[in-house]
Amino acid sequence: MNEEQLDDLIAYLKFPSVSTDSSHAGDVLECAEWLREKMASQGLEAAIHETAGHPVVVGRNNHIADRPTVMIYGHYDVQPADPLELWDSPPFEPRIEGGKIYARGSTDNKGQNLAHILGIGESIAAEGDLPVNVIVLVEGEEEIGSPNLELFLEQNKEDLACDIVAVSDTGMLAAGLGTFTYGLRGITCMELKVRGPAMDLHSGVFGGAVANPAMAAAKIAASLHGEDGRVAVEGFYDRVEQLQDWERENWARLPVPADETLDLTGAPGLFGEAGFTDTERRWARPTAEINGIGGGYQGEGSKTVIPAEAFVKFSFRLVPDQDPDEILGLVRVHCEKNTPPGVSVDYEFGHSGKSYVMDPQSGFGKAAQEALGKTFDGQPALIREGGSIPIVQTFRDVLGVDTLLLGLALPDCRIHSPNENFLIRNFFDGIRLNRNLLQALAQ
Ligand code: BES
Ligand code: ZN
Repeated sequence: MNEEQLDDLIAYLKFPSVSTDSSHAGDVLECAEWLREKMASQGLEAAIHETAGHPVVVGRNNHIADRPTVMIYGHYDVQPADPLELWDSPPFEPRIEGGKIYARGSTDNKGQNLAHILGIGESIAAEGDLPVNVIVLVEGEEEIGSPNLELFLEQNKEDLACDIVAVSDTGMLAAGLGTFTYGLRGITCMELKVRGPAMDLHSGVFGGAVANPAMAAAKIAASLHGEDGRVAVEGFYDRVEQLQDWERENWARLPVPADETLDLTGAPGLFGEAGFTDTERRWARPTAEINGIGGGYQGEGSKTVIPAEAFVKFSFRLVPDQDPDEILGLVRVHCEKNTPPGVSVDYEFGHSGKSYVMDPQSGFGKAAQEALGKTFDGQPALIREGGSIPIVQTFRDVLGVDTLLLGLALPDCRIHSPNENFLIRNFFDGIRLNRNLLQALAQ
């Protein structure tokens, strides 16, 4: 174990680079500056690029014609750490215990992208150069849907031209089992504000004669699914591509413990779309979720009011060939149809990202599998993932290239949850993975 590399990880994790919270904008900037210096110390020419939001940090080696150009993408921003009281130690004071490092961003995504940067540094130190041209692009807005990165790619298309992108920001089926992800779900988000009376009202004086916005919000929310677990929005499934036989057979044979979803979530039971296994539901079927719902009295005891307004936050996970904007349109029509009389609804559309699927047996796909096989000793698992990295399909649309997803996130790493952690062995395996990957891609 290289102590210096571990110290680098600890230093990186200390920045509370929470992109969604403007009170952390200074921390985000300091983190970007630290990252630029780290890239430079590893032998890359590195610069910070301003955007309309948080900056992008880009590092590159000396590019030579006639060898492939590989972009390594990652993000230095993190999700908020709340609820803080559920952490066993402060989220931005990294703690090591039982071979794991605990901190917000440890797995998602600082540990994984730093492994690539340090892997590059090791190769340059050992061989004087890399076997390929690299562009390391680490952004600060992934956790808020990368709102400024598409424009950045378009404006810097020539400088960012590459043959392939590689990302470690997905899952690994089990410790020591190399995992190649060839598909991600897309996402689209919306919020409804349901408005009723001009002010909170006495529910005895007016109840029964005035519509209740919280009840209307609940009715709209409940209308999203049928009893069979399917999304009840008309047209929602029209463009959904069926799962391939080979992938269903392949996934059924993967070494996933039978009750893993129950064990990882602590839910008392599973529920989802009829006709699919929970792996298929998580990786390759579209969903509708309520991420937040509220309105009315939230304090102790009871308060007899009809609230003036209520809200629901929805997100939809999408699969090929669903289009985020089209889905938002269909959902809006559905909500309008299911809105009871006596309230008005304002719709606010949030961020979106398309789903992504590539051919795992493409030339680059095989090279990635070879690198995983070499790093983790054995045939890698081929999976799709339910999470989203919206920029991945944008890389294809703007730069015309596929993205290789070589994840190091373990099933119990608790990304986005309290006590997020990263197995330290995976950090060092990630450093070796980078070296093996660049060598395999050079062929
Ligand atoms: N690293 C995750 C995405 C992920 C997690 C992919 C696990 C596969 C397996 C990424 O940082 C993330 O959380 N993405 C967000 C995107 C959203 C905010 C636009 C997501 O999936 O919710
Ligand atoms: Zn994330």
